[in-house]
Amino acid sequence: MSKTLLVIHHTPSPYMQEMFEAVVSGATDPEIEGVDVVRRPALAVSPTDVLSAHGYLLGSPANLGYMSGALKHAFDVCYYPCLDAARGRPFGLYLHGNEGTEGAERGVDSITTGLGWVKAAEYVVVSGKPDKADLQACWELGATVAAQLMP
Ligand SMILES: Cc1cc2nc3c(=O)[nH]c(=O)nc-3n(C[C@H](O)[C@H](O)[C@H](O)COP(=O)(O)O)c2cc1C
Repeated sequence: MSKTLLVIHHTPSPYMQEMFEAVVSGATDPEIEGVDVVRRPALAVSPTDVLSAHGYLLGSPANLGYMSGALKHAFDVCYYPCLDAARGRPFGLYLHGNEGTEGAERGVDSITTGLGWVKAAEYVVVSGKPDKADLQACWELGATVAAQLMP
């Protein structure tokens, strides 16, 4: 039976769109079989989306030194309904911003620790226009988390 990888992303700008597309491209690489990739804007994600997935890719800008309100909203809506049910599932994170990305990382660390999610790859943090290496890192993030769900 195939597994589901849920991409919960806040994508408010062209640079973040480039990162999102690279992450999805890695996650949907033809060599990865048996993994369905579902994308949900962070403001639209529901507890059912989270409960029915087996792993997660999170994408956000740094806003005011923290994760975006959109990604925080996704956690606010899904945290208690998914607590316990989603323990042990792998996740990855990509961030875009110049200052305060550490605050966003700390916030995600803290919430995912509470949820019992397992960091499946190093976080990818990009400033300014993503260059080729940045997009490659995004691709690898998507492929790495997806590969861990292969049956
Ligand atoms: C309300 C708001 C707060 C922001 N705060 C930060 C911040 O603390 N640090 C930072 O590096 N960028 C901040 N930004 C910029 C976003 O991180 C940036 O728009 C996002 O990473 C996408 O980059 P781009 O707009 O250059 O494509 C903020 C943007 C908004 C709308």
